[in-house]
Amino acid sequence: MLTRKGSPYKFCPLLVLVLISAAIALDDWADGGTILIKGGTVVNHDQQFEADVLIRDGIIVDVAPDIEAPPGCLVLPAAGLFVMPGGIDPHTHLDMPFMGTVTADDFFTGQAAALAGGTTFHIDFALPINHDIRAGFREWQSKASSGCMDYSLHMAVTQWGPRVAADMGQLVAEGVSSFKFFMAYKGVLQVSDGELLAGLSRCRQLGALPLVHAENGDAVAWMQERLISSGIRGPEGHPLSRPPALEAEATGRAIRLAGVVGAPLYVVHVMSGEAVEEISRARLSGSRVVGEAVVSGLALREAGCWDTNFTSAAALVMSPPIRGPGHAERIKAALAAGVLQLVATDHAVFNSSQKAAGRHDFRRIPNGVNGIEERMHVTWQEMVVAGLATPSDFVRLTSTAAAQLFNVYPRKGRLAAGSDADVILLDPRVTHTLGVGAAHSPRMDTNVYEGKVVQGKVVTTLSRGRLVWHEGRLRVRRGSGRFVRRPPFGPLFQGLDEQERRALTLPYGPTPVPREGDQEAQLPEQQQQEEGVCGGGREEVAAAAAGGGFCSASGSQQGATY
Ligand code: URP
Ligand code: ZN
Ligand code: ZN
Repeated sequence: MLTRKGSPYKFCPLLVLVLISAAIALDDWADGGTILIKGGTVVNHDQQFEADVLIRDGIIVDVAPDIEAPPGCLVLPAAGLFVMPGGIDPHTHLDMPFMGTVTADDFFTGQAAALAGGTTFHIDFALPINHDIRAGFREWQSKASSGCMDYSLHMAVTQWGPRVAADMGQLVAEGVSSFKFFMAYKGVLQVSDGELLAGLSRCRQLGALPLVHAENGDAVAWMQERLISSGIRGPEGHPLSRPPALEAEATGRAIRLAGVVGAPLYVVHVMSGEAVEEISRARLSGSRVVGEAVVSGLALREAGCWDTNFTSAAALVMSPPIRGPGHAERIKAALAAGVLQLVATDHAVFNSSQKAAGRHDFRRIPNGVNGIEERMHVTWQEMVVAGLATPSDFVRLTSTAAAQLFNVYPRKGRLAAGSDADVILLDPRVTHTLGVGAAHSPRMDTNVYEGKVVQGKVVTTLSRGRLVWHEGRLRVRRGSGRFVRRPPFGPLFQGLDEQERRALTLPYGPTPVPREGDQEAQLPEQQQQEEGVCGGGREEVAAAAAGGGFCSASGSQQGATY
């Protein structure tokens, strides 16, 4: 309470509002105004230092030692606490129709839970409607209007054609600068290699980041059939049908296809050591590939899928699956070493009655687990408390890297003057237990982190300068979230044009060698195009041979390049 003696809330001198009732005053403060976070340890991805943070009207206006409290501001004492940028979760599925049902958390319940767990911004995956990506975008904007936190959107591409290619350009103009391609979920979301290539090429052209769900969907379907006919119908069939080899194969294939068209690539939910190795090898060869870990991959074990209780086992079903011994350790080592860049959630919640659809056939268990509220705490536990990462590394893995890769940095992902006031206070001394009882989504009746004890707790969350989580109380308002547009040509695109330009100067580069009799044998333009030369530009052919790809030079091929 505001006026309680010993409370961490203290009004600045002369503040007459102290006479107003505590509840009303707290609501006022929750609406914004001026807030000074005093005496904490400020942590950015590159620096940790003792400083105060001054916030006005939703924006950070100063980060410096010993800031004097302006008249009328609210002071939040932060001695002993880490003051960090709010978490950014670049991989969520709120209100998503999937496998015959809809994910349980909508934008309001999911975002409210996120704020209680210290996440202040997320990027959700919009799905097309009947392969129409613009209709999907409109639908997701309508779903998100109930939210209470800033968000952005990726768009999934599930079929290729001239309309999709054109609509991708339109969506980029509207602030959607990343597209996801599923290499799994055969017959539903899965794209062919040809479609993936076309999509990667279009992304390269638009400056949009392509994302892949990397599993070999054809092989998964084949494995599923085999398991079912051998009598394995329970949740254990899920990991058995999706072994690490199928994740690694698709990861390697996507990396190579992206290399051929010269596009950067973001691999979502890397779950196996084998997939990590593919990414590591590619990065060491100069590929622009980044890998996303998800918090379930850090902390959970596949053995739970063999639990004799169906509800407990089915709760763990997600794709790619939670893996066996050793994989989590390799993923954490890869995060510590910079082979993987960040930790997301893939938050896709289905309650136990939804999961029961697959009671007698694991192929029907809706795939997905929770994590939007638990991610910050589990990552702190698994990386920082475990001694694998510093607090600055933690900020990079849970916030800054996502802001940079998805081109909203430093507006998000940094505590600095001019950034949005998305701020958390983490108390490293508090130990607490995760589970349904402790979580803030009313939609979950199981929690894959049930009973997990973690050290370090987010005690305060500010969302654009509004105090939304403090002293165990959540104060969120439906409809207060904002859509954050993300411009194309983010950092992963820098230098790609130069790489292509240099390829032109190679002594044995992709330029036609003049030979006697060539003039007479010139192919008609139409025939050249059928044989795969898009527009015939010398630069484009050069780019392809240099790993830059046919039809890929930015801005040079507006329209149908599929
Ligand atoms: O199991 C999962 N991951 N469900 C959500 C959809 C996806 O593949 O990301
Ligand atoms: Zn996926
Ligand atoms: Zn996902």
